[in-house]
Amino acid sequence: MSIDIAPAWWTSAVVYQIYPRSFADSTGDGIGDLGGIRGKLDYLQELGVDVVWLSPIYRSPQADNGYDISDYRDIDPLFGSLAEFDLLLAEAHARGIKIVMDLVVNHTSDEHAWFEESRGSLTNPKRDWYVWRDGVDGREPNLWRSMFGGPAWKLDAATGQYYLHLFAVKQPDLNWENREVRSAVYEMMNWWLDRGVDGFRMDVINLIAKVQSDLVGDSPGFVMGDQVHDYLQEMNREVFAGRDADLITVGETPGATVDDAIRFTSSDRLELDMVFQFEHVGLDHGPRTKFDNVPLKLVDLKRSLGRWQSGLAESGWNSLYFGNHDQPRSVSRFGDDGQFRFESATLLAAILHLHRGTPYVYQGDEIGMTNAGFTTIEQYQDIESLNYYNEEVAAGASPADVLASLAFRSRDNARTPVQWDASPGAGFTTGTPWLAITPNHTTINVAADRAAGLRSIFEFYRRLIALRHESPVVALGDFEMLEPEHPTLYAFTRSLGAETLLVVGNFSSEGLELPLSADGEPVIGNYPQGEDVAGELRPWEVRVVWRG
Ligand code: GLC
Repeated sequence: MSIDIAPAWWTSAVVYQIYPRSFADSTGDGIGDLGGIRGKLDYLQELGVDVVWLSPIYRSPQADNGYDISDYRDIDPLFGSLAEFDLLLAEAHARGIKIVMDLVVNHTSDEHAWFEESRGSLTNPKRDWYVWRDGVDGREPNLWRSMFGGPAWKLDAATGQYYLHLFAVKQPDLNWENREVRSAVYEMMNWWLDRGVDGFRMDVINLIAKVQSDLVGDSPGFVMGDQVHDYLQEMNREVFAGRDADLITVGETPGATVDDAIRFTSSDRLELDMVFQFEHVGLDHGPRTKFDNVPLKLVDLKRSLGRWQSGLAESGWNSLYFGNHDQPRSVSRFGDDGQFRFESATLLAAILHLHRGTPYVYQGDEIGMTNAGFTTIEQYQDIESLNYYNEEVAAGASPADVLASLAFRSRDNARTPVQWDASPGAGFTTGTPWLAITPNHTTINVAADRAAGLRSIFEFYRRLIALRHESPVVALGDFEMLEPEHPTLYAFTRSLGAETLLVVGNFSSEGLELPLSADGEPVIGNYPQGEDVAGELRPWEVRVVWRG
């Protein structure tokens, strides 16, 4: 007798990521806020998403746009108040939408009271809450570099020791070896869950465990410590155990391998529901930095995503994403954001959403927003981009070359305000936006997209999301990659029981002769139905059929 265990609800769910400062501004100060989000809940409900993940809205000096938190239990006044957050939560829940908070606990802001106390003296009770070490021969304790450039250590003059910051100088790393730190984090998580939030997206969660012996000496770079699994299991016992199964946890895990992901997400290990892995978004990075562009080969993308599909087929679960607030716009990066913007944006959506895993829609992708097109350094705000520019130019690089790299890779490409309409503030703000609105908002915007009938990208996303809700094959079916060596065809099947879904997509602006039959009952496609050319895919065409 077989026992049927119901699949987790998030196998058939879709998450929408909001980057609050760029979503919608209700106060006219040029920065998006909670009121703005509340005003768009009907829009999100129409799209059909199940969960909204909010990038950080906690109190913060905003050195890294809120990923530097100075108070975990308050909302930054830029975004609103706790009372307004409660309203947002209630209004989202009333529409059947869950709210997931960003949990940034690898580091705090240097303006967090914990760090202020910790840096105060060598002997204060919170000294050990952060990673403090003596220098070695008048230099940093080891050779680690910060993700945002420069050494990962900062000398603190008051006590003569260095503190570790894997990210910006203003983002000191917490010491997870310390039991009190862990308890304080779990207590804070429980506080949010008691308030009604539906889970957490855990920022760089695999970086919390440092190999202690690496911290001093000639260790060249961070390697994930194995205790991360103990910490996550402990977190489960102290935070999630006994709570309702409707919660969701997703860990951002840069550098994680398929094997790591299996350990993080196998249901019997009680660590995370799913991870964000980075392999496929690193394929076009140069060997030196991510700002060196290497043209992406579709074969490599298929090999990578295909390996993750088969690796997690039996146990574990993955998140599916092409874009977020740290990545360039997907249509500019993987598609054609000019002539074939509609076709390539919808192709990318179909390919992604029909893989096995939980799809994440990054705000604006549902209308095919493009990269920002910035041409001067003054237009950028992102700390990573500004640090990179300054370091490179100081080392002798030509500013024009560095600007060219930023134009395709800067995180600000994804952070320009959401383009709601063609008005001067793009319907985002009545004031001066904190980051320039992309000039193409006069044609690329929600209002125009929703009036575009068969060429609405939003409508295409809406149908894909509905398909995942309705179809067990999409949620749970086995994945098989077809024609893995074909340079421009992305083809795969999903099957469950007697049902098979076939997906074929043409990643090029040229026509493509199909090496396989794509006959079947049409499910969704991005060219007018009934005009299919047998045996061919048109530029950036995607076709999805039920195979008999
Ligand atoms: C994550 C966030 C990114 C942030 C970094 C440091 O990668 O997604 O935006 O800068 O962590 O918190």
